Amino acid sequence: MSAPTTIEWTEEFSRAVHRLIDVSVDDYYNPYRTFQWPESIEPKDLWMSRELLSVHGTPAEHELSREQLIELSRWESVNLYSLIAHGIRELLIEVMRRIHTPGYEIPTPYFHHFIGEENEHMWFFAEFCLRYAGRIYPDRRMVFPTDDRSPEMNNFIVFSQILIFEQIGDYFNAKMAADENLPETVREVNRIHHRDESRHIAFGGKLVSALFDEVRRKHSAEEIEEVARYLRGYIDLIIQMLYSREAYQDAGIPNPARFRAAVIADPARAAITARITKRTNHFYRRIGLFR
Ligand SMILES: [Fe+2]
Ligand SMILES: [Fe+2]
Repeated sequence: MSAPTTIEWTEEFSRAVHRLIDVSVDDYYNPYRTFQWPESIEPKDLWMSRELLSVHGTPAEHELSREQLIELSRWESVNLYSLIAHGIRELLIEVMRRIHTPGYEIPTPYFHHFIGEENEHMWFFAEFCLRYAGRIYPDRRMVFPTDDRSPEMNNFIVFSQILIFEQIGDYFNAKMAADENLPETVREVNRIHHRDESRHIAFGGKLVSALFDEVRRKHSAEEIEEVARYLRGYIDLIIQMLYSREAYQDAGIPNPARFRAAVIADPARAAITARITKRTNHFYRRIGLFR
């Protein structure tokens, strides 16, 4: 079921949509020809920047051998790309529900670009995992809210979840694109994704701000506080999914469940989590949802 919106889109929003469409058209590439896909990727090097590994800052980072860190970097990158691929499927379903429905006439032209680009992202992240690791990790559900909330609240939550997911993913993509120590194929998928996502995140920020204005007009302070708690929980959920028991297991770490619990609880991780979520928290403070 789609959730109609009665939002009044501003002139500024409409202009931004057209600007982003122009950039999408100019930046358009054929993903099926863009990547070289070498036979294999250098197994001697890290596949994920050291400071992005889930063990970074914890005692485990120094207890693991160089070979184990490299193995972990391979499986944690597979975990990240699997999360992205599954997350894209879920967000595409939600955008598909709304394109060309009443109230979405203004953002709909951009939805076409968004849907097309996300389909291609899902393809190249899955392709990377299947080619170089032989598998994609199974779906950990990114739960979107059911229709028991008001349409405007539902819309605000859905597009917030898309924005949060894209902002956190982009933290990793931008860093890996810039890391000269990573294999070129790894840098390339991250670089291309980062370029497209900068447009999606700009669009998402404007869309979520507009949806929040509508929520604020129609809901009490208590209801708004409840949705703030819900979105904080969603941010925590994404952070927790970055600590993958399967990745620890595939990297050959004994007792991966206990290892995961220890790494998540390590006090050194709090400052790193704060960096990963900084842009998101800043955005929600700016629009007035988080304090
Ligand atoms: Fe994407
Ligand atoms: Fe995106």
